[in-house]
Amino acid sequence: MDNAIIIVTRRLSAICILGEFGSEILEYRNLGGIQVPIIGMGTFRSFDVSLDSEIESRREIIANCIESGVTFIDSSPMYGHAERIIGLTTEGRQETFQLATKVWTRGRRQGEEQIEQSFQLMKADHIDVFQIHNLLDWQTHLDTLERLKDEGRISVIGITHYTTSAYPEMMRIMRSGRIGAVQVPYNVGDLACANELLPLAEELGIGVIVMEPLGQGRFLGRLRRQPNMESLAEFGIDTWAQALLAWVVSDRRVSVAIPATSRPERIIENAKAGDAGHLTQDIRDYIREETMRCL
Ligand SMILES: NC(=O)c1ccc[n+]([C@@H]2O[C@H](COP(=O)([O-])OP(=O)(O)OC[C@H]3O[C@@H](n4cnc5c(N)ncnc54)[C@H](OP(=O)(O)O)[C@@H]3O)[C@@H](O)[C@H]2O)c1
Repeated sequence: MDNAIIIVTRRLSAICILGEFGSEILEYRNLGGIQVPIIGMGTFRSFDVSLDSEIESRREIIANCIESGVTFIDSSPMYGHAERIIGLTTEGRQETFQLATKVWTRGRRQGEEQIEQSFQLMKADHIDVFQIHNLLDWQTHLDTLERLKDEGRISVIGITHYTTSAYPEMMRIMRSGRIGAVQVPYNVGDLACANELLPLAEELGIGVIVMEPLGQGRFLGRLRRQPNMESLAEFGIDTWAQALLAWVVSDRRVSVAIPATSRPERIIENAKAGDAGHLTQDIRDYIREETMRCL
């Protein structure tokens, strides 16, 4: 890891990394057999950029990811230039990251071509987590991804979907034993996965990647009044974004939450939520109720 001394320690059953100043950065959890930090980064919209000036700020984002331990990065061919920008900004340092992307097309040949393109764009020989985006033609792609896993080119096969109506099908695939990770929305305004899908993931040892942990930003940008954070100070929570992310990762069935941002300083802000990743249910209830009160 660049500019960082990696020291592995044990806190409870968690593995943590200590940064260059010796501070504890982030707790790690299991995701389908690999270890990932509890705060990662999504790239939907935020990495779909092409201007030189925008690419420079994405380099800053990646530098801050390394500094703060946010090493799990999720992408997709659906996200425009995102895979290419990840490749350009992480080049030569892929070993530092756990890279995740998706296949999002129909047909065996089209799927294989798109998957190969992702390896090229992300400039990676190995991609840690390869997911089937929104279950599109999942039967076809699952065969391809199992072959790539056997060849050692990927480590974990995942499936994603953003709607509750897809959960019964997701749970059928989970029970097949063929996947190691699922990606679903989970935030203070969307608890749909909590009742059945998360318990099944826990029972089967399947990792959970949380998309939209900030509700696509609406639980921050659309608040009409300032949330009261007095009772959260003792947990090291300074901003409402940290409260929302701590709410997500305090559910231990979650492996990693992947907030997206286009602002480098927010990587550091969001990573700090990992310090408060063990809130009690009372505090989680308060964060959810306070968000709804302020909307
Ligand atoms: N079907 C699928 O597989 C699927 C679907 C949806 C999402 N995903 C994945 O999940 C990731 C996350 O979901 P998302 O991007 O839709 O939503 P999100 O992470 O819940 O919210 C992103 C929004 O929050 C804002 N934000 C981030 N940090 C902030 C902070 N500290 N303070 C204030 N605002 C902040 C960002 O604005 P700024 O840029 O201004 O910071 C952005 O508008 C995606 O990027 C993608 O990788 C997958």
